[in-house]
Amino acid sequence: MEYFQNTQSNTEVLAKETLIYPGFYTINIRKFSNIDTLSFQKAFNTAVANLKSDYTKDKYIRDERFNQSWDHIQGEARELIIKLLEMYCAAEYSGFILYKELSYQLKETNSILSDGFSLISRDEARHASFLNKALLDFYIKPGLGFLKKEHRKYISLPFSWFIYSTYLSERISSCYYITIFEHLESHPEYSIYPLFSFYKSWSEDENRHGDFFGAIIKSQLQLSNGLRARLVCKFFLLLIFSMTYFKYKSNDKLLALFGLDAREYYVSTIKKVNNSIRKDLPIVLDVEESRFFNKLDICLLHISENKRINISNQNMLLKLIQKIPHYFTILLVMLRLSIMKSINTRENR
Ligand SMILES: [Fe+2]
Ligand SMILES: [Fe+2]
Repeated sequence: MEYFQNTQSNTEVLAKETLIYPGFYTINIRKFSNIDTLSFQKAFNTAVANLKSDYTKDKYIRDERFNQSWDHIQGEARELIIKLLEMYCAAEYSGFILYKELSYQLKETNSILSDGFSLISRDEARHASFLNKALLDFYIKPGLGFLKKEHRKYISLPFSWFIYSTYLSERISSCYYITIFEHLESHPEYSIYPLFSFYKSWSEDENRHGDFFGAIIKSQLQLSNGLRARLVCKFFLLLIFSMTYFKYKSNDKLLALFGLDAREYYVSTIKKVNNSIRKDLPIVLDVEESRFFNKLDICLLHISENKRINISNQNMLLKLIQKIPHYFTILLVMLRLSIMKSINTRENR
């Protein structure tokens, strides 16, 4: 434990430095530079103007509600809150670094994209800093060694994977924040820490980031028009929605802390996101069809079965042999999901 300066209260707090692990990504920057922002000027101008307006500039102020000790939150509840803060702190720093670097790399070749990414990185930095201060309330000081470039390990992402995964993660987080906010507004008895009352502004920020990526998708004909675009879109939606849904079991205790049922919460989040992305994507999935989540539940059963095998005391080869039928079933179910009907969003326009 060491003493750290708490910039909010201007006092020193005794805190433990903990490492957090943001992800670092690189993308083919030439493809970004070549994005035709002129032909889609209206969509880009609106998205950038909204980011420039900085509607939430004065919203992230730690008010008097934070001026108290949080030592009464103990045991599992405390562990869960710290885990949540660390996880989101790492994600926000990841976003901040990624967008900052993109903005810098595009400065000379694509000023609209460069401006947009710079404004988004401003928001992510603000979010990260707010979470950083929240962690200090629990005597945790995130180690920021990753801010030094030489300490980072980068993962290179294909262009369309990057666009889709980032776009959807912005939309999913926006939905996550607003759902928690609205739930706690109507059930204040579960609001055990004031951070969550900032989630409305947070959600609006992430939504504006999603709008900017929406403009990028619209400008990419190979992602927004034609059969190939629809197939690529279906693949990414299925993959990212499944990965999101599979997390519900590991977050059930945290959501129970807010008085939410994890499965219901994830089903409703995915449905809301699926509805909100209609305006940007060529197709959306038919998640209202009950078979969709039932099939994902079958995959989950096989995933937990494989986890159980993994922790057993058998040798590696035996474990692998036992896991193969489960992998095969998961693959089969995913293939069945991929041939389920999707909704063409361009038909009604
Ligand atoms: Fe953020
Ligand atoms: Fe964001």
